[in-house]
Amino acid sequence: MTSVFIKDLAKYEGQEVQLQGWVYNKRSGKGLFFIVLRDGFGYCQCVVDEKIVNSESFEASKNLTQESSCTIVGIVVKDERQMGGYEIQATSVEVISIAEEFPISKKEHGVDFLMDERHLWLRTQRQWAIMRIRNKMIFSIHKFFQSNDFVQMDAPIFTGNAVEGTSTLFETDFYGQSAYLSQSGQLYGEAMAMAFNKIYTFGPTFRAEKSKTRRHLSEFWMIEPEMAFHDLDMNMNVIEAMMKFVVNELVVVCAEEFKIIGRDVSILKNINRPFPRIAYDDAVDMILGKKDVDGKNSIALLEGDLKKVQDRIAEVKKETEEREAKLKDAGMKKGEIAFNQNKIDSLKNELKDLEEDERNIPNWLNSAKNFQRGDDFGGSDETVLTRLFDIPIMIYNWPHEVKAFYLKRDKNAPHLAKGVDVLAPEGYGEIVGGGERETDINLLKEKIIEHKLPMEAFEWYLDLRRYGSVKHAGFGLGLERLVAWVCKLPHVRETIPFPRMYGRLFP
Ligand code: 4AD
Ligand code: MG
Repeated sequence: MTSVFIKDLAKYEGQEVQLQGWVYNKRSGKGLFFIVLRDGFGYCQCVVDEKIVNSESFEASKNLTQESSCTIVGIVVKDERQMGGYEIQATSVEVISIAEEFPISKKEHGVDFLMDERHLWLRTQRQWAIMRIRNKMIFSIHKFFQSNDFVQMDAPIFTGNAVEGTSTLFETDFYGQSAYLSQSGQLYGEAMAMAFNKIYTFGPTFRAEKSKTRRHLSEFWMIEPEMAFHDLDMNMNVIEAMMKFVVNELVVVCAEEFKIIGRDVSILKNINRPFPRIAYDDAVDMILGKKDVDGKNSIALLEGDLKKVQDRIAEVKKETEEREAKLKDAGMKKGEIAFNQNKIDSLKNELKDLEEDERNIPNWLNSAKNFQRGDDFGGSDETVLTRLFDIPIMIYNWPHEVKAFYLKRDKNAPHLAKGVDVLAPEGYGEIVGGGERETDINLLKEKIIEHKLPMEAFEWYLDLRRYGSVKHAGFGLGLERLVAWVCKLPHVRETIPFPRMYGRLFP
């Protein structure tokens, strides 16, 4: 018997094949079972007909519970209505292992519960689709850099110095010496770029972030290219080309996955337009509502949205009450009760999200109205700004005081640093941070002192300016942030198999 994967069924139309997988869903009819099997590659309905299979197989089908593992043999039948376009007319069903009652059912669950069950949650279709998009994104990023002559180089995880400020360091013990988990591979990337010209790192990075936000993980994956002989503009060109390449490819190769998670990909197709490049000062005007974007004003937009959220809250509350009243009706059928209960649960979940918006929007409004020119953008400012766009934007020319020590100062405007942040649209905010690097060793030393960093830990880095210094630039792309935007997820916790963040070390 040919053992096949669900994704390959088209090649076996009319033939008898063997599938191995887990029961995703099961319904019964008269003398029939409809088993939706998942094998890790896809989902397929298997029809078990009492008239076709022997009694052992029918009994086995009866016993199968959600997530039981089994082997199903059957004929591949074309059926346009089915996901994937095929179903299996079973000829035999064999149990591998009967699953205990699976904690995650079709009904609505709260996200904290689901995070506790993350090891099992990964089996559900939506999470499956997101992880597959992540996988293709990783592949696509490698493809972009490899085909553009970049060499992948891994930076160490144990490091002796901070890169992105000392407040988010995870300290560990390294044979009695204190070491930090890498915040960024950039400084090593700069060294490697002087040896290989164009490099990129792709590895885990760590930030101690003692707050719960939808954008922060304690452990996340960063892609950090570093390029010799590149300035800020060339750097922005590379970022833009990379993002266009990756998103365009994903839209094609993950079409099915986007459908599963309900992501409207039309907005992703905007990626082919040039990314607006906006100087920090202009971006501040947009946040403050002093400058409109395509007729949209930051403040008016937020006020309008708040009104919409409040109206929807009233609707949701009303519908919940009506359904709860209905449930009290004694004559209601079992199926109807379940249907209503499920609706109520989903309305309650929606209400939670809406109430979060109702709390958030006034905060965003407040921080937008009171933004102080010269400050770094906080999460709220990025949200306010990027809700005005449907394409990633690049903010450059930052006040040097708010940016990292290694960024190059602008000779013609010494108060500015040649950094760039790329902000994803639809309220997502920063996904890339980068810039041109300071080459003036004296300015670098000044910055190291100003940032209260230990000079001796940076001597090796300063060597890069002593031995054949050239202009160079690079950036860091946060993989999970890009997945979150591309999939339009409410939180980065769903973008990585086992998230590590404040308050979450298990499973
Ligand atoms: O802006 P950041 O801090 O820049 C750097 O680390 C530079 N050394 C990169 C470089 O130029 N080589 O971080 C870069 C990106 C952010 O834009 C964001 O996407 C992601 O890393 N990031 C995080 N993602 C998830 N959780 C966190 N706590 C993150 N902190 C940064
Ligand atoms: Mg940043």
